[in-house]
Amino acid sequence: MKVTVVGSGYVGLVTGTCFADMGNDVWCVDIDQKKIDNLKKGIIPIYEPGLEEMVKRNVEEGRLRFTTSLKEALADTLFVFIAVGTPPGEDGSADLQYVLAVAEDIGKNMERYLIVVNKSTVPVGTADRVRETIQTQLVKRGRGDLEFDVVSNPEFLKEGSAIEDFLRADRVIIGTDNVRTAELMKELYDPFQRKGEKILVMDIRSAELSKYAANAMLATRISFMNEIAALCEACRADIEKVREGIGSDSRIGRSFLFAGIGYGGSCFPKDVRAIIQIQKEYGLLPKILPAVEETNKQQRVRFVEKVIRVLGDDLKGKVLAVWGLAFKPQTDDMREAPSVDIIRDLHSRGARFQAYDPVAVHTARAVLGNDGIVYATGYYEALKNADALLLLTEWHQFRKPDFERMKSLMKAYIIFDGRNQYNPIKIREAGFSYYCMGRP
Ligand SMILES: NC(=O)c1ccc[n+]([C@@H]2O[C@H](COP(=O)([O-])OP(=O)(O)OC[C@H]3O[C@@H](n4cnc5c(N)ncnc54)[C@H](O)[C@@H]3O)[C@@H](O)[C@H]2O)c1
Repeated sequence: MKVTVVGSGYVGLVTGTCFADMGNDVWCVDIDQKKIDNLKKGIIPIYEPGLEEMVKRNVEEGRLRFTTSLKEALADTLFVFIAVGTPPGEDGSADLQYVLAVAEDIGKNMERYLIVVNKSTVPVGTADRVRETIQTQLVKRGRGDLEFDVVSNPEFLKEGSAIEDFLRADRVIIGTDNVRTAELMKELYDPFQRKGEKILVMDIRSAELSKYAANAMLATRISFMNEIAALCEACRADIEKVREGIGSDSRIGRSFLFAGIGYGGSCFPKDVRAIIQIQKEYGLLPKILPAVEETNKQQRVRFVEKVIRVLGDDLKGKVLAVWGLAFKPQTDDMREAPSVDIIRDLHSRGARFQAYDPVAVHTARAVLGNDGIVYATGYYEALKNADALLLLTEWHQFRKPDFERMKSLMKAYIIFDGRNQYNPIKIREAGFSYYCMGRP
């Protein structure tokens, strides 16, 4: 089938590449000329395991092409996916300017029937706005006769396992009121559900809201566990034991129950804020989700407080090693990464940093700059003469470090573990002072 994906970021590029991998003819479109030039040369703009190889294979086999010209892509396509960013506006609501700009562009350039699929995370009612925007442009061009459908198809992939998630999604939600469009969408997604039916067809508004509700639920689980972790610290219980104790209940399940320094990334923070805003717009009084957000912010503060309690409020002259900068492992995404707030706060108290991340140094540098931070090329190198180690992202390679080698490099043997990676008893036996989240 012929597919165009507009927006070649984390979602768009993965979506386009996975559709191409199933034998479809795909155009990936972006307004960023440099990104498209690089993609044409095989340079992938983001770190996502398995993506580079998959892009190259599909380009070589002629199924995946890149362009900045939507007109060129639309000339011969049935589906056009909108996968551009929906960042938070000033009041926290989703900023739809990029989505609507694409809709306008579609209206200006389409010459034949299209199924316009909204994959960006958008508030309820956005499909209507996309439809109106396209129609307005068609009428202006005197092509009000051209037919099109607008579908909601929210994306649930996770950065770091985006390809795997797309190829083997738990479910594919298709929001449409049109039976024929639903069938065509099912045909497109059919190769991804060979092990069983995963497609859920529903009305557009429910599809749009499902995405926000899913992220809000996951964020709630994380904040809930962080609140219980604070209680564990107060009453000398162990959050890791409590996690096992509740996660083994099949009604609760084991996923998304890890306490730490809170969630970050391009989705949870903005989607929680956006759904709060949607609730307010409909005259409702959100109660749970503002608390989820507040607890999440507090986790970063609580971590900084742990550091200050041990090293003092004046951190001038202190060198802190940092392991992990990205908002989670397996990605170079620094959007709303907890590391940013933590480093900035400690920097304002005089600390200097030697930071290491396996893939996010270039994105981290763009956010944090070079003032007071040296970016190490290896994780042991980051420890040289350090007064303490902060573990902020749980990359696999940090799980089983050589503690003796660490001690030979560090000035003081202190670890602040924001991700509960180590066994407190063993690490203290190894000679470290160890501070983690929600464990005695
Ligand atoms: N990143 C995730 O893990 C994830 C997961 C599920 C859903 N989402 C949602 O998917 C959407 C996209 O997120 P992302 O992380 O891929 O964003 P991104 O910032 O990585 O990519 C967006 C891309 O769109 C391009 N773009 C902007 N305006 C354009 C236009 N008019 N024409 C063509 N290209 C344009 C940008 O240049 C950029 O390359 C968001 O709504 C997000 O909430 C993201």
